[in-house]
Amino acid sequence: MTEIRKKQDRTPVPKDWTYAPAPESRDVVSLRDRYGLFIGGEWLEPKESYETISPSSEETLATVGQGSAEDVDRAVAAARAAFANGWSSLPGSERAKYLFRIARILQERARELAVLESLNGGKPIKESRDVDLPLAAAHFFYYAGWADKLEYAFPNRRPRPIGVAGQIIPWNFPLLMLAWKVAPALACGNTVVLKPAETTPLTALLFCDVLRQAELPPGVVNIVTGDGRTGAALVEHPGVDKIAFTGSTEVGKAIQRRLAGTGKKLTLELGGKAANIVFDDCALDQAVEGIVNGIYFNQGHVCCAGSRLLAQESIYEPLVEKLKRRLETLRVGDPLDKNTDVGAINSQVQLDRIKELVAAGEAEGAEIYQPPCRLPEKGYWFAPTVFTNVAQSYRIAQEEIFGPVLSVLTFRTPEEAVEKANNTPYGLSAGVWTEKGSRILWMAQRLRAGVVWANTFNRFDPTSPFGGYKESGFGREGGLHGLEPYMRFEE
Ligand code: NAI
Ligand code: MG
Repeated sequence: MTEIRKKQDRTPVPKDWTYAPAPESRDVVSLRDRYGLFIGGEWLEPKESYETISPSSEETLATVGQGSAEDVDRAVAAARAAFANGWSSLPGSERAKYLFRIARILQERARELAVLESLNGGKPIKESRDVDLPLAAAHFFYYAGWADKLEYAFPNRRPRPIGVAGQIIPWNFPLLMLAWKVAPALACGNTVVLKPAETTPLTALLFCDVLRQAELPPGVVNIVTGDGRTGAALVEHPGVDKIAFTGSTEVGKAIQRRLAGTGKKLTLELGGKAANIVFDDCALDQAVEGIVNGIYFNQGHVCCAGSRLLAQESIYEPLVEKLKRRLETLRVGDPLDKNTDVGAINSQVQLDRIKELVAAGEAEGAEIYQPPCRLPEKGYWFAPTVFTNVAQSYRIAQEEIFGPVLSVLTFRTPEEAVEKANNTPYGLSAGVWTEKGSRILWMAQRLRAGVVWANTFNRFDPTSPFGGYKESGFGREGGLHGLEPYMRFEE
């Protein structure tokens, strides 16, 4: 007895259970002061430029080009020349070699790219390291596999590349969205002009270095940085055969209007307001994890985020209670800290948009909950937020907030859940939490959403097509379906 007591006495008892800082090193990334535009395999000096910052500290990271209409014209010409001078007629097995090479280099340089993604975009290193980078490499591996099998993918349809693809991507998954767009385009034998989002150009610019390392022929991929004006110039350019766009529904609609009647191909991946539907027979703790992952992953800057929680009335109270308790454990702060769960909001503009919608939610009568957390002084931050008492007509139940804000609604029957879930102009994704397989299938048939996750959320795989219904856009990315928008058929 005495011995045991003695031992207990010697055991160090921690007084403080908070996490010690665990920062990832910034030194793995060497940034240049200035970046040009990557056209025809060369860095061209832009006439205009702007500074790109880190949203977690507001420090300037580099000066990058604001591509003009003339720059876009040069990039399209370089892409056209590369298409005609060999890339499109290269055997698929040869194109595949480049894609495999790019995939392997992305893996080799994953740490460097992940750190840069978190620096420039504000997302936690845990996510850029474990989600963005592995998935980006996986997309190149996956489409590399298709490059020499297109005849089998589309039997008797004589698939051919379409030409120059103009690709416009957003800031929430900068390198991953680049991979989603570039990999299938190249696998099918097209060449590319890509415009990254204005707030997150740096991983795309570092990717140019990856392309050089992979010895991709000049002009096959061109990267022109800049804001919406650069994007608009790409959309307008007569030498572009296809536009692939991911971003806001507003800009998507404008692009569709511009392209009407031009014969250019178009795919749009736009906003969402996904319902995450929780039935009373589900594994509740697992559902809480899924809800947290569904809306607080990447600060909620996710088009398929589970931003509307539909809770069955019979479990509403314990579910919300557990959710609030779980929220208290989320660590908000430095994106480069390996323990961080929720990083910085991508930009001041986005932060203002989130604040505006949250204020509207409070004004309309919803009840707000935010766990106690200290937000850093500099940079753009928003605490994880839950709204209860939300009516379907409230703006926070209708509009895409694109931030760490969850709106909780309730339902009684499966029919009511379907009706409420589909009561949105969007239709990108949905989640269903229940123990019953038959109910999952019943729900999946009725939900008007491109992806329906069952007992999980925000799960991605390059083999699985992704895309929307209604105002969430059209066309699919990923999987066999993702090849089709980059081909024409000589049937
Ligand atoms: P946005 O649609 O303006 O930007 C997305 C991309 O389109 C960027 O590269 C931008 O430079 C480009 N762009 C902007 N105007 C253009 C034009 N007229 N022609 C061609 N390209 C143009 O999105 P923004 O303003 O950054 O975010 C606004 C809202 O859109 C967010 O709050 C969110 O709700 C939604 N959004 C949805 C995304 C998704 O993944 N579906 C991604 C980003 C934003
Ligand atoms: Mg915009």
